[in-house]
Amino acid sequence: MRTYLVTGGAGFIGSNYIHYMFRKYDNEIRIINVDALTYAGNLENLKDIENRDNYTFVKADITDKEAIAKIFAENDIDRVVHFAAESHVDRSIKNPEVFVKTNVLGTAVMLNCAKAAWELEDGSFKEGKKFLHVSTDEVYGSLPDDGKSYFYETTPYSPHSPYSASKASSDMLVKAYIDTYHFPANITNCSNNYGPYQFPEKLIPLIINNALQGKKLPVYGDGMNIRDWLYVDDHAKAIDMVQEKGRLGETYNIGGHNEKRNIEIINIILDTLLEMLPENDPRRANVSKDLITYVEDRKGHDRRYAIAPDKIKKEVGWEPETMFAEGIKKTIAWFFEHEDWMKNVTSGDYQKYYADMYQNK
Ligand code: NAD
Ligand code: DAU
Repeated sequence: MRTYLVTGGAGFIGSNYIHYMFRKYDNEIRIINVDALTYAGNLENLKDIENRDNYTFVKADITDKEAIAKIFAENDIDRVVHFAAESHVDRSIKNPEVFVKTNVLGTAVMLNCAKAAWELEDGSFKEGKKFLHVSTDEVYGSLPDDGKSYFYETTPYSPHSPYSASKASSDMLVKAYIDTYHFPANITNCSNNYGPYQFPEKLIPLIINNALQGKKLPVYGDGMNIRDWLYVDDHAKAIDMVQEKGRLGETYNIGGHNEKRNIEIINIILDTLLEMLPENDPRRANVSKDLITYVEDRKGHDRRYAIAPDKIKKEVGWEPETMFAEGIKKTIAWFFEHEDWMKNVTSGDYQKYYADMYQNK
C-alpha cells in the first residue's frame, strides 16, 4: 500500500485533497497528515475521515527537523505532497517573518528529511519515491490587463509580496534539489482556488459570510484586479495526476482559464445568494449591493494573474472541469449546509477541536 505524507492537510486545499484522495483510492492508500494547526489549520475539515484506519494525523511544525525526521524514520513514505505554508498575502504584508520561516525553512526541512530517507549509497533515490511541492502563480508577478498575456512555466519569476517572495524562494530550493541531487520532485504553480473549507479571510468566503450577515463587503482599490479562479477539487485532481503522469523534475502550471475582476466576483456572489436563498429566509434582507465598500488598496497589489495550462493538458491530460457558475453554486451550497463550521471559525471555537479530540495524543 502506498503511503502519502501530506503537509498542511488541515488547511483549505490540503483537506480537500485528502477528501479527494480517499474518494478516489479508498483503502488502496495510506495518508499521514502533518500539520502545526496554525490559525488556518482546522481539524473539523477532516472530521468525517479521522477514524479511518488508513489515516493518521500528526501535530508537528514543518520547521521542526526532529519531528519531521521521526515521521520518515517510522514510516516508509512513498509520496510527499507539500501544502503547508502561510498562505495569505495581507498577513504577509503585516508580518513577513513567519512566511520566511514556514515557507522557506519549512520547505528546506521537508526536502532534507525526504532526501535523507530516500537516498541510496550511490546518490540515486529509491524507486518510486516522489515529492510534490504545491506552489502559486503569484511567483510570476503581475500581468498587464490585456486579456492575452499568460503565465507559462518559462515565465521569469518576479514576486512582489512577502508571501509570493517566500513561495518563490521555496520553489527555487526545490529546483536546486532537482538540479543538484536529481531529487525526484515536481512543482505545481496554481491560480486562485475556491470551494468548501476555505478560511473566511480570503475573498470568496469572506464575501459570502459578510453578505449573509449584512456586513460591509470590502473591495480593495478599484475592484478591477483580475484573478484566475479554479474550483479546489480540480486542483486536487491536477496534483494527483501530476504525481501519477508528470515527468519528474518538471514544473506544471495549473489554472482554470477563468479570469474575473474582483468586483465581478462580488456581484456574481450577491446574485447567486439571492437566487439560492429561499423566499422566506431572513438572510435575504441582508444581501444587497449597497454593502459594497471601496477601501484602501492592498500594498503592491498585483493587477492580473492568468495561467496558460497548456503543458499540463498536453503532458498529463488534465483540464479544469468545473465551470465557475457551477463551482460558485456548489461553494455557496456548502456554506449554507455548514453554518456551524463558519460560526466555529469566526468565533475561534475550531481551535478547541484538537484539544477535545486528541487529548491523549
Ligand atoms: P491554508 O492557509 O488554508 O492552509 C495552510 C495549512 O498549513 C494549515 O492547515 C496550517 O495549519 C498549516 N501550516 C502552516 N504553517 C505550518 C507549519 N509551520 N508546519 C505545519 N503546518 C503548517 O492554505 P491553502 O490555501 O490551503 O494553501 C495550501 C498551499 O497551496 C500553500 O502552499 C499555498 O501557497 C498553495 N496555493 C494556494 C492557493 C489558494 O488559492 N489558496 C493557490 C495556489 C497555491
Ligand atoms: O493566485 C494564487 C493565490 O491566491 C494563492 O497563492 C494565495 O495563497 C491565495 O490566498 C490567493 O491570493 P490572493 O491575494 O489573490 O487572494 P485573496 O482572496 O486574498 O484576494 C483575491 C483578490 O481580492 C485580490 O485581488 C485582493 C482582493 N480582495 C481580497 C480581500 C480579502 C478584496 O478586494 N477584498 C478583500 O477583502
